[in-house]
Amino acid sequence: MTEQTKFKPVRKAVFPVAGLGTRFLPATKAIPKEMLPIIDRPLIQYAVDEAREAGIDQLIFVTGRGKTAIVEHFDTAYELEDTMRGRDKSLDVLEPTRIQPGNLVTVRQQVPLGLGHAIWCARAIIGDEPFAIFLPDELMIGTPGCMKQMVEAYNETGGNLISVLEVPHEEVSSYGVIDPGQVLDGFGGSLTEVKGLVEKPRLEDAPSNLIISGRYILQPEVMRVLENQGKGAGGEVQLTDAMAKMIGTQPFHAVTFGGKRYDCGSKTGFVEATLALALERPDMADDVRAMARRLLGL
Ligand code: G1P
Repeated sequence: MTEQTKFKPVRKAVFPVAGLGTRFLPATKAIPKEMLPIIDRPLIQYAVDEAREAGIDQLIFVTGRGKTAIVEHFDTAYELEDTMRGRDKSLDVLEPTRIQPGNLVTVRQQVPLGLGHAIWCARAIIGDEPFAIFLPDELMIGTPGCMKQMVEAYNETGGNLISVLEVPHEEVSSYGVIDPGQVLDGFGGSLTEVKGLVEKPRLEDAPSNLIISGRYILQPEVMRVLENQGKGAGGEVQLTDAMAKMIGTQPFHAVTFGGKRYDCGSKTGFVEATLALALERPDMADDVRAMARRLLGL
């Protein structure tokens, strides 16, 4: 990208993928949950596609034991490609899995101490640059994609940005919640100042029903905060707590994404995403609609 901006560009993204995926057992006993497919792409592919659309090409996976399939997915599969060539099959379908040599790095999170700890594990690779974070469970679909929208906002504001969305008030305790400040002019109401952040608040303590929805652009200083971050909600080192300490020291804004979000960390969210994306695909939509009608007895 040659576009000049006022701020250091966001080139790196961290994907915390060390989680055990216990909610999807036994499916995730031998397969990382990030490799479960929504139709014909594993979840992680959607997040990587979203990163690349936003001009981010250096991928950092924070992995753990049993997660090698994720790295394999983004490697060259020589035998497969050779066989496909021999059968005159197009290799275009593998294009999204190709990463420029050197642009995929993994670090291990040896013990599951929380999201904040997972991100901190990538500190040596982040160095002194702003970076994005993608929680692949959160599937964000839209044009432009969520991260692209955030990078565009970042080019105006600099500092730290998180994506947010509204949920019914009774659901806030499952998420990080923001205390919203002023809405900024010129972004169609989609950019809000962040005055405070709280991870998994009790209903009565929640400052709003705007939750952090799994996309972040953060300044590298957060790594220094995480270094000394004690345990928070759920006895885990929380990224939200470290971000909260950055408010007031650097700009901090929330982007309300204009597209759709699917919570693929839950089984119903996963089914919803599968159905919704199938209904968007020209090669499947008619058949799937007819099938859904049949199943619902309509
Ligand atoms: C994490 C974050 C939380 C955020 C959520 C989005 O929570 O800590 O702030 O709202 O992801 O899915 P987790 O789902 O890991 O408990």
